[in-house]
Amino acid sequence: MDAGHVPVLFGEALEYLGIRPGGTYVDATFGGGGHSRGILDRLTSGRLIAFDADPQARERCRDFPAERFTLVNANFRELDHRLDELGVAAIDGILYDLGVSSMQLDVAERGMSFREEAPLDMRLDPTTGPTAADMLGTLSERELAQVIFEYGQERAARRIARAIVRRRDEGRLPATTTALAALISGVLHRYGHRERIHPATRTFQALRIAVNDELNALQESLVQATDRLVEGGRIVVISFHSLEDKIVKEHFRSDRRLEVLTRKPVTPSEAEQQANPRARSSKLRAARKLEETP
Ligand SMILES: C[S@@+](CC[C@H](N)C(=O)[O-])C[C@H]1O[C@@H](n2cnc3c(N)ncnc32)[C@H](O)[C@@H]1O
Repeated sequence: MDAGHVPVLFGEALEYLGIRPGGTYVDATFGGGGHSRGILDRLTSGRLIAFDADPQARERCRDFPAERFTLVNANFRELDHRLDELGVAAIDGILYDLGVSSMQLDVAERGMSFREEAPLDMRLDPTTGPTAADMLGTLSERELAQVIFEYGQERAARRIARAIVRRRDEGRLPATTTALAALISGVLHRYGHRERIHPATRTFQALRIAVNDELNALQESLVQATDRLVEGGRIVVISFHSLEDKIVKEHFRSDRRLEVLTRKPVTPSEAEQQANPRARSSKLRAARKLEETP
Protein backbone atom coordinates (compact mmCIF):
# COMPACT_ATOMS: atom_id res chain seq x y z
CA MET A 1 0.00 0.00 0.00
CA ASP A 2 1.19 3.54 -0.65
CA ALA A 3 2.61 4.79 2.62
CA GLY A 4 1.15 8.23 1.90
CA HIS A 5 -2.52 7.32 2.22
CA VAL A 6 -4.17 5.21 4.91
CA PRO A 7 -7.49 3.84 3.62
CA VAL A 8 -10.50 4.85 5.70
CA LEU A 9 -13.10 2.33 6.97
CA PHE A 10 -11.16 -0.38 5.16
CA GLY A 11 -12.69 -3.47 6.80
CA GLU A 12 -16.19 -2.02 6.77
CA ALA A 13 -16.00 -1.09 3.06
CA LEU A 14 -14.87 -4.58 2.07
CA GLU A 15 -17.50 -6.21 4.25
CA TYR A 16 -20.33 -4.16 2.74
CA LEU A 17 -19.07 -4.91 -0.77
CA GLY A 18 -19.73 -8.59 0.04
CA ILE A 19 -17.04 -9.63 -2.43
CA ARG A 20 -17.58 -12.74 -4.52
CA PRO A 21 -14.18 -14.16 -5.55
CA GLY A 22 -15.18 -14.48 -9.20
CA GLY A 23 -16.97 -11.13 -9.46
CA THR A 24 -16.28 -7.94 -11.37
CA TYR A 25 -15.72 -4.91 -9.14
CA VAL A 26 -15.06 -1.21 -9.61
CA ASP A 27 -13.02 1.00 -7.31
CA ALA A 28 -14.21 4.42 -8.47
CA THR A 29 -11.49 6.27 -6.53
CA PHE A 30 -8.18 4.41 -6.73
CA GLY A 31 -6.09 7.02 -4.84
CA GLY A 32 -3.19 5.18 -3.21
CA GLY A 33 -4.79 1.83 -4.03
CA GLY A 34 -5.41 0.76 -0.43
CA HIS A 35 -9.01 -0.34 -0.92
CA SER A 36 -8.19 -1.73 -4.37
CA ARG A 37 -5.57 -4.00 -2.87
CA GLY A 38 -8.07 -5.23 -0.31
CA ILE A 39 -10.59 -6.05 -3.06
CA LEU A 40 -7.97 -7.81 -5.21
CA ASP A 41 -6.86 -9.93 -2.24
CA ARG A 42 -10.39 -11.28 -2.03
CA LEU A 43 -10.73 -12.09 -5.73
CA THR A 44 -9.64 -15.33 -7.38
CA SER A 45 -10.93 -15.40 -10.95
CA GLY A 46 -12.60 -11.99 -10.54
CA ARG A 47 -11.59 -8.66 -11.99
CA LEU A 48 -11.12 -5.13 -10.63
CA ILE A 49 -11.45 -1.95 -12.66
CA ALA A 50 -10.25 1.18 -10.88
CA PHE A 51 -10.90 4.80 -11.83
CA ASP A 52 -8.98 7.90 -10.87
CA ALA A 53 -9.13 11.31 -12.52
CA ASP A 54 -5.59 12.02 -11.36
CA PRO A 55 -2.98 10.86 -13.92
CA GLN A 56 -0.53 10.22 -11.05
CA ALA A 57 -2.61 7.23 -9.95
CA ARG A 58 -0.89 5.26 -12.72
CA GLU A 59 2.43 5.43 -10.86
CA ARG A 60 0.89 3.82 -7.81
CA CYS A 61 -0.45 0.68 -9.47
CA ARG A 62 2.72 -0.56 -11.12
CA ASP A 63 2.80 -3.73 -9.01
CA PHE A 64 -0.89 -4.57 -9.49
CA PRO A 65 -1.60 -7.82 -11.41
CA ALA A 66 -2.34 -6.80 -15.02
CA GLU A 67 -4.46 -9.88 -15.73
CA ARG A 68 -7.00 -9.02 -13.03
CA PHE A 69 -6.64 -5.25 -12.69
CA THR A 70 -7.29 -2.32 -15.04
CA LEU A 71 -6.73 1.32 -14.18
CA VAL A 72 -8.86 3.83 -16.05
CA ASN A 73 -7.50 7.34 -15.86
CA ALA A 74 -10.84 9.14 -16.01
CA ASN A 75 -13.49 10.82 -13.96
CA PHE A 76 -15.98 8.34 -12.49
CA ARG A 77 -18.78 10.33 -14.12
CA GLU A 78 -17.63 8.53 -17.31
CA LEU A 79 -18.33 5.14 -15.76
CA ASP A 80 -20.82 3.98 -18.39
CA HIS A 81 -18.81 4.93 -21.40
CA ARG A 82 -15.51 3.59 -20.02
CA LEU A 83 -17.00 0.26 -18.96
CA ASP A 84 -18.53 -0.06 -22.43
CA GLU A 85 -15.08 0.49 -23.93
CA LEU A 86 -13.73 -2.32 -21.76
CA GLY A 87 -16.62 -4.61 -22.71
CA VAL A 88 -17.85 -4.82 -19.11
CA ALA A 89 -21.65 -5.04 -19.20
CA ALA A 90 -22.38 -5.63 -15.52
CA ILE A 91 -20.59 -5.24 -12.20
CA ASP A 92 -20.99 -6.98 -8.85
CA GLY A 93 -20.00 -4.03 -6.72
CA ILE A 94 -18.56 -0.53 -6.73
CA LEU A 95 -16.76 1.47 -4.06
CA TYR A 96 -16.40 5.26 -3.86
CA ASP A 97 -13.99 6.75 -1.32
CA LEU A 98 -14.58 10.40 -2.14
CA GLY A 99 -12.47 13.52 -1.99
CA VAL A 100 -8.73 13.84 -2.25
CA SER A 101 -5.91 11.61 -1.09
CA SER A 102 -3.21 12.49 1.40
CA MET A 103 -0.75 12.54 -1.52
CA GLN A 104 -2.79 15.18 -3.36
CA LEU A 105 -2.99 17.29 -0.20
CA ASP A 106 0.72 16.90 0.45
CA VAL A 107 1.93 17.91 -2.99
CA ALA A 108 1.87 21.67 -2.66
CA GLU A 109 1.67 22.37 -6.41
CA ARG A 110 -1.78 20.82 -6.59
CA GLY A 111 -3.03 23.82 -4.63
CA MET A 112 -5.50 21.76 -2.57
CA SER A 113 -4.19 22.84 0.81
CA PHE A 114 -3.54 26.28 2.30
CA ARG A 115 -0.76 25.01 4.57
CA GLU A 116 1.91 25.54 1.93
CA GLU A 117 2.32 28.20 -0.70
CA ALA A 118 1.29 27.04 -4.19
CA PRO A 119 -0.60 28.30 -7.23
CA LEU A 120 -4.39 28.08 -6.86
CA ASP A 121 -4.99 24.99 -9.00
CA MET A 122 -7.16 22.40 -7.15
CA ARG A 123 -7.95 20.23 -10.19
CA LEU A 124 -8.08 16.48 -9.60
CA ASP A 125 -6.89 16.14 -13.18
CA PRO A 126 -4.29 18.90 -13.62
CA THR A 127 -4.20 18.37 -17.38
CA THR A 128 -7.66 19.74 -18.12
CA GLY A 129 -10.29 22.32 -17.21
CA PRO A 130 -10.24 25.64 -15.38
CA THR A 131 -8.26 26.05 -12.16
CA ALA A 132 -9.37 27.72 -8.93
CA ALA A 133 -7.37 30.78 -10.02
CA ASP A 134 -9.36 30.89 -13.29
CA MET A 135 -12.59 30.80 -11.30
CA LEU A 136 -11.51 33.58 -8.96
CA GLY A 137 -10.52 35.60 -11.99
CA THR A 138 -13.81 35.21 -13.88
CA LEU A 139 -16.82 34.61 -11.60
CA SER A 140 -18.96 37.58 -10.62
CA GLU A 141 -19.12 38.55 -6.95
CA ARG A 142 -22.58 37.02 -6.74
CA GLU A 143 -21.51 33.72 -8.34
CA LEU A 144 -18.47 33.51 -6.10
CA ALA A 145 -20.56 34.12 -2.99
CA GLN A 146 -22.98 31.43 -4.12
CA VAL A 147 -20.20 28.85 -4.63
CA ILE A 148 -18.67 29.63 -1.23
CA PHE A 149 -22.04 29.53 0.50
CA GLU A 150 -23.43 26.41 -1.17
CA TYR A 151 -20.34 24.24 -1.39
CA GLY A 152 -18.54 25.53 1.70
CA GLN A 153 -21.62 26.20 3.85
CA GLU A 154 -19.78 29.36 4.79
CA ARG A 155 -21.98 31.99 6.47
CA ALA A 156 -19.53 34.77 5.65
CA ALA A 157 -19.60 33.87 1.92
CA ARG A 158 -20.74 37.28 0.75
CA ARG A 159 -18.08 39.12 2.72
CA ILE A 160 -15.37 36.79 1.46
CA ALA A 161 -16.56 37.15 -2.15
CA ARG A 162 -16.67 40.93 -1.80
CA ALA A 163 -13.11 41.02 -0.45
CA ILE A 164 -11.83 38.79 -3.28
CA VAL A 165 -13.52 40.83 -6.00
CA ARG A 166 -12.29 44.08 -4.47
CA ARG A 167 -8.74 42.76 -4.66
CA ARG A 168 -9.37 41.66 -8.23
CA ASP A 169 -10.60 45.13 -9.18
CA GLU A 170 -7.41 46.57 -7.69
CA GLY A 171 -5.35 44.12 -9.77
CA ARG A 172 -4.14 42.34 -6.62
CA LEU A 173 -6.03 39.05 -6.77
CA PRO A 174 -4.35 36.47 -4.47
CA ALA A 175 -2.33 34.19 -6.73
CA THR A 176 -1.42 31.49 -4.22
CA THR A 177 -3.09 29.24 -1.65
CA THR A 178 -1.49 30.98 1.31
CA ALA A 179 -2.31 34.46 -0.01
CA LEU A 180 -5.97 33.50 -0.45
CA ALA A 181 -6.05 31.87 3.01
CA ALA A 182 -4.58 35.04 4.55
CA LEU A 183 -7.20 37.20 2.83
CA ILE A 184 -10.03 34.98 4.13
CA SER A 185 -8.56 34.90 7.65
CA GLY A 186 -8.42 38.70 7.60
CA VAL A 187 -12.07 38.99 6.57
CA LEU A 188 -13.30 36.54 9.20
CA HIS A 189 -11.18 37.96 12.03
CA ARG A 190 -12.40 41.43 11.28
CA TYR A 191 -15.92 40.21 11.96
CA GLY A 192 -14.95 38.43 15.14
CA HIS A 193 -15.20 34.82 13.95
CA ARG A 194 -13.14 32.56 16.20
CA GLU A 195 -13.21 28.84 15.63
CA ARG A 196 -11.45 25.52 15.87
CA ILE A 197 -10.80 24.99 12.16
CA HIS A 198 -8.75 27.32 9.97
CA PRO A 199 -11.01 30.11 8.67
CA ALA A 200 -10.16 29.23 5.05
CA THR A 201 -11.20 25.56 5.35
CA ARG A 202 -14.76 25.99 4.10
CA THR A 203 -13.86 28.32 1.23
CA PHE A 204 -11.14 25.93 0.04
CA GLN A 205 -13.58 23.03 0.16
CA ALA A 206 -16.07 25.09 -1.84
CA LEU A 207 -13.58 26.04 -4.54
CA ARG A 208 -12.34 22.47 -4.90
CA ILE A 209 -15.90 21.15 -5.25
CA ALA A 210 -16.67 23.81 -7.87
CA VAL A 211 -13.43 23.38 -9.84
CA ASN A 212 -14.02 19.64 -10.15
CA ASP A 213 -17.83 19.79 -10.35
CA GLU A 214 -17.66 17.10 -7.67
CA LEU A 215 -21.31 16.90 -6.65
CA ASN A 216 -22.70 16.57 -10.17
CA ALA A 217 -20.05 13.96 -10.98
CA LEU A 218 -21.11 11.93 -7.95
CA GLN A 219 -24.82 12.19 -8.73
CA GLU A 220 -24.33 11.14 -12.36
CA SER A 221 -22.01 8.29 -11.47
CA LEU A 222 -24.33 6.81 -8.83
CA VAL A 223 -27.11 6.52 -11.42
CA GLN A 224 -24.78 4.85 -13.93
CA ALA A 225 -23.44 2.50 -11.24
CA THR A 226 -26.94 1.46 -10.22
CA ASP A 227 -27.81 0.68 -13.85
CA ARG A 228 -24.72 -1.51 -14.20
CA LEU A 229 -25.10 -3.52 -10.99
CA VAL A 230 -26.18 -7.15 -11.16
CA GLU A 231 -29.08 -8.15 -8.93
CA GLY A 232 -27.70 -8.44 -5.42
CA GLY A 233 -24.73 -6.20 -6.38
CA ARG A 234 -23.51 -3.56 -3.93
CA ILE A 235 -22.69 0.16 -3.94
CA VAL A 236 -20.56 1.40 -1.06
CA VAL A 237 -19.76 5.09 -0.62
CA ILE A 238 -17.45 6.74 1.89
CA SER A 239 -18.08 10.49 2.04
CA PHE A 240 -16.35 13.28 3.92
CA HIS A 241 -18.84 16.12 4.13
CA SER A 242 -22.57 16.54 4.42
CA LEU A 243 -23.12 17.66 0.80
CA GLU A 244 -21.73 14.38 -0.52
CA ASP A 245 -23.49 12.35 2.12
CA LYS A 246 -26.82 13.97 1.29
CA ILE A 247 -26.51 13.01 -2.39
CA VAL A 248 -25.70 9.40 -1.50
CA LYS A 249 -28.50 9.16 1.06
CA GLU A 250 -31.04 10.63 -1.37
CA HIS A 251 -29.99 8.37 -4.23
CA PHE A 252 -30.16 5.24 -2.08
CA ARG A 253 -33.53 6.26 -0.71
CA SER A 254 -35.16 7.33 -3.96
CA ASP A 255 -33.93 4.68 -6.41
CA ARG A 256 -36.47 1.90 -6.06
CA ARG A 257 -34.04 -0.68 -7.40
CA LEU A 258 -31.91 -0.31 -4.25
CA GLU A 259 -32.23 -1.66 -0.74
CA VAL A 260 -30.37 0.40 1.85
CA LEU A 261 -28.02 -1.73 3.96
CA THR A 262 -26.96 1.02 6.38
CA ARG A 263 -29.97 2.57 8.09
CA LYS A 264 -27.54 4.95 9.79
CA PRO A 265 -24.16 5.76 8.22
CA VAL A 266 -21.23 3.69 9.47
CA THR A 267 -18.55 5.83 11.13
CA PRO A 268 -14.99 4.94 12.12
CA SER A 269 -14.14 3.58 15.56
CA GLU A 270 -12.48 5.80 18.18
CA ALA A 271 -9.25 3.92 17.54
CA GLU A 272 -9.36 4.60 13.79
CA GLN A 273 -10.15 8.28 14.38
CA GLN A 274 -7.21 8.55 16.75
CA ALA A 275 -4.86 6.80 14.36
CA ASN A 276 -6.03 8.57 11.20
CA PRO A 277 -7.34 12.14 11.59
CA ARG A 278 -8.60 12.06 7.96
CA ALA A 279 -11.10 9.39 9.03
CA ARG A 280 -12.84 11.68 11.53
CA SER A 281 -15.48 13.12 9.23
CA SER A 282 -16.03 9.95 7.19
CA LYS A 283 -19.37 8.21 6.77
CA LEU A 284 -20.04 5.00 4.91
CA ARG A 285 -23.35 4.10 3.30
CA ALA A 286 -24.11 0.93 1.39
CA ALA A 287 -26.96 -0.36 -0.75
CA ARG A 288 -27.82 -3.56 -2.59
CA LYS A 289 -29.60 -3.90 -5.91
CA LEU A 290 -32.87 -5.72 -5.56
CA GLU A 291 -34.04 -8.60 -7.72
CA GLU A 292 -36.36 -7.33 -10.42
CA THR A 293 -39.96 -8.29 -9.84
CA PRO A 294 -41.40 -9.92 -12.96
C1 LIG B 1 -9.71 9.58 -0.81
S1 LIG B 1 -8.83 9.15 -2.23
C2 LIG B 1 -9.08 7.42 -2.39
C3 LIG B 1 -8.15 6.60 -1.56
C4 LIG B 1 -8.19 5.12 -1.82
N1 LIG B 1 -9.47 4.53 -1.48
C5 LIG B 1 -7.09 4.41 -1.11
O1 LIG B 1 -7.36 3.47 -0.34
O2 LIG B 1 -5.92 4.76 -1.31
C6 LIG B 1 -9.83 9.77 -3.51
C7 LIG B 1 -9.26 9.59 -4.90
O3 LIG B 1 -10.34 9.68 -5.81
C8 LIG B 1 -10.02 10.48 -6.89
N2 LIG B 1 -11.27 11.12 -7.31
C9 LIG B 1 -12.05 11.97 -6.62
N3 LIG B 1 -13.12 12.31 -7.34
C10 LIG B 1 -13.03 11.63 -8.52
C11 LIG B 1 -13.84 11.56 -9.67
N4 LIG B 1 -14.97 12.27 -9.79
N5 LIG B 1 -13.46 10.73 -10.66
C12 LIG B 1 -12.31 10.00 -10.57
N6 LIG B 1 -11.50 10.05 -9.51
C13 LIG B 1 -11.85 10.85 -8.49
C14 LIG B 1 -8.99 11.47 -6.38
O4 LIG B 1 -8.14 11.86 -7.44
C15 LIG B 1 -8.27 10.64 -5.31
O5 LIG B 1 -7.12 10.04 -5.83
